Amino acid sequence: MTVDDRPRITQFWHPVASVAEATPGPIGVTLLGRRLALFPSVDDHIVVLDDVCVHRGAPLSLGFVADGCVVCPYHGWRYDADGKCVAIPALPPDAHIPAAARATHHRSEVRYGLVWGALDEPVAPIPAFPGDVECDARFRGGHWTTFEWNTSAGRAVENEMDLAHFPFVHPFLLADPQRPEVLDYNVDVSPERVLVRAGRARYVEPGQTLGPGYTEYMHVFPYTHHLRIVETGFDVDHVTVISAFHCPSTASSTRMWWFIHRNFVPDYSEDEELAMFLKVLEQDRIITESVRPEAIPPSIRDELHVRLPDAPSLAFRRWLEGIDLGCLATD
Ligand code: FES
Ligand SMILES: [Fe+2]
Repeated sequence: MTVDDRPRITQFWHPVASVAEATPGPIGVTLLGRRLALFPSVDDHIVVLDDVCVHRGAPLSLGFVADGCVVCPYHGWRYDADGKCVAIPALPPDAHIPAAARATHHRSEVRYGLVWGALDEPVAPIPAFPGDVECDARFRGGHWTTFEWNTSAGRAVENEMDLAHFPFVHPFLLADPQRPEVLDYNVDVSPERVLVRAGRARYVEPGQTLGPGYTEYMHVFPYTHHLRIVETGFDVDHVTVISAFHCPSTASSTRMWWFIHRNFVPDYSEDEELAMFLKVLEQDRIITESVRPEAIPPSIRDELHVRLPDAPSLAFRRWLEGIDLGCLATD
């Protein structure tokens, strides 16, 4: 594949907002450096247009929604769900509206309570939850929390597959700093994802052990991560799936929506579980926001890797080399 044949990062679905944020709308968001305006249509689809009025460049997201259209805040031009201008208030009612009076329209879908947008014809589906969450009626859960980090989506999602940072960034929470070696683990790479299966990752006091089970880390390209924790020793394995969908806003800013699903009723406090998770993610935020450059460098050779601990991120970086990252490579 030549460089010019590579799929573009604009050819993937990315989450851009929650439906709740976009309703009643309009709201402005940034995807791949591009300002977008979101608002609900009359049939409750969430419309995604470029956040710029073709008249004088005002942001449509500062306007208001009326009858499934967005009304520009400057001179009141009204754009429908296809981006077509259907009213110019300064003209007489029967005046012709020029065909060029359109806002650029982008494809959008609603999935998991999130609005997904794609700026070009998608080459991959909207990422799904792992198969058992989708198919097993025992699973319960949903949206957990949302973050906005000052780093790239690549750095953020790569951190979630990085087992070597646990003893240093999360000492006595996820790992023991006295035992930093990454033990052998299984890595399976396909064109769509990296799947890592490792032991259960959590710190326990010396002399104690975790119950039996394993952990799977699945990175679906480009920016989705699933952590699947399996505790065995029950009639039915206890499975917890924590998922993160990342929006690559710019090369140095990322929004992420976290979900949790499980197939059992926990005998521990879910509030305490969330508090620990937030503590862990705050530790991750501080270190990933400090990394330079904010974007993952364009070539694998631009940073140094060690084979076993960095195997998942190497697979991701090989995949990234086959993608035209556009504005993400040069913010
Ligand atoms: S700038 Fe939008 S109507 Fe004039
Ligand atoms: Fe971490």
